[in-house]
Amino acid sequence: MSRISLVAGNWKMNRTAAEARELVSTMSAKLREIANVEKVVCPPFIAIPALAALLEGSGIGLGAQNLHWEAKGAFTGEVSTDMIKEFCQYVIIGHSERRAYFGETDESVNRKLHAAMKAGLTPIVCVGETLDQYESGKTAEVVRRQISAGLAGIDSAAAARIVVAYEPVWAIGTGKASSGENANHVHQDVIRPALAELLGAENAQAIRILYGGSVTASNAAEFFAYPDIDGALVGGASLKPDEFVAITKAAVRS
Ligand code: 13P
Repeated sequence: MSRISLVAGNWKMNRTAAEARELVSTMSAKLREIANVEKVVCPPFIAIPALAALLEGSGIGLGAQNLHWEAKGAFTGEVSTDMIKEFCQYVIIGHSERRAYFGETDESVNRKLHAAMKAGLTPIVCVGETLDQYESGKTAEVVRRQISAGLAGIDSAAAARIVVAYEPVWAIGTGKASSGENANHVHQDVIRPALAELLGAENAQAIRILYGGSVTASNAAEFFAYPDIDGALVGGASLKPDEFVAITKAAVRS
């Protein structure tokens, strides 16, 4: 299998620009030494230009946490793909916190994904079921719908660039990570088949599927031991330099 692992840190609404510079400075030297893993940090928008300058030539990528699908205009408070592209290579789309608190839907995810693809950004599309859905056995149904509606109409020629992050909502920020076995099952038996149906078997094999939800330095290796887990989208632990470096090291495929 030739998929190179990807580890992305989603800082959410944490760190000022000055704090972001400090955080990156404490870990960039160690991160850049780790070969054969794509490394990405996704700070709040306002810290992005400062980090872009700091990370130039480091091999560490920069990602935004959201985007607006329109190119420009009267959309107060929004940020377009051109603005993101000036500094970033990646963008997170459809994070469960945006779905839960900011009205993100599969339809808006789809519009944002089309905009990101058109701009040449690497989208990290988040999917995952809530605790209720998990407990009532609806994981496969929910995740399948999020994939088929969220990725609808994507040109299969460029689709291998897409990254999917499976983040069960019940595992985010709770300290209760999914087991590696359960995450791999969803990746292998739900997400890849849904991707294959939509974008073809070859794309489904090429697309990286990350796991996210309470990933730490202590449990990371368990996830990365599974063949269908191609990396991690890390929240809380990405704000701790030693943890994030350790998680990234664990993602190197042997
Ligand atoms: P935690 O790692 O803090 O659980 O957050 C996961 C997440 O939401 C990453 O996008």
